Amino acid sequence: MGKNKLAKFAEMETFPHVLQYPFARLQQEAFPLRGHWREDFFHNDRPIVLELGCGKGEYTVGLGELYPEKNFIGVDVKGARIWTGAKASHEAGMTNVAFLRGEIESLTSFFAPGEVDEIWITF
Ligand SMILES: C[S@@+](CC[C@H](N)C(=O)[O-])C[C@H]1O[C@@H](n2cnc3c(N)ncnc32)[C@H](O)[C@@H]1O
Repeated sequence: MGKNKLAKFAEMETFPHVLQYPFARLQQEAFPLRGHWREDFFHNDRPIVLELGCGKGEYTVGLGELYPEKNFIGVDVKGARIWTGAKASHEAGMTNVAFLRGEIESLTSFFAPGEVDEIWITF
């Protein structure tokens, strides 16, 4: 694995708005924010919008800028891709954007029924 990728992975661990729960971790522990994203993470009652397979997160960050009255979560399994959007939103101080590194197949472990208002799939 390249040094650059390792540096991105290390930096991802420091971002408070990045949750990393690939399948192997989910086998060990329950995802703590399921059903509690609004009160425990975003600290508001605003709608939650997902972008599935967000890649570098351009749409997640862009939509977050356009619609500050909504909460956006980019989901992707590839940490090195998520890093781009995670870094940009962190540096911009955005409070309505989060990233979740995990498999889309685990979506029902990440969100309770009715918790998500909107889903974008941009490819
Ligand atoms: C074609 S890219 C699209 C990226 C972005 N949405 C865009 O439009 O630029 C597809 C993305 O889906 C992610 N992906 C594919 N299967 C996935 C899965 N099962 N769970 C999470 N992410 C997945 C890949 O890692 C990749 O970043």
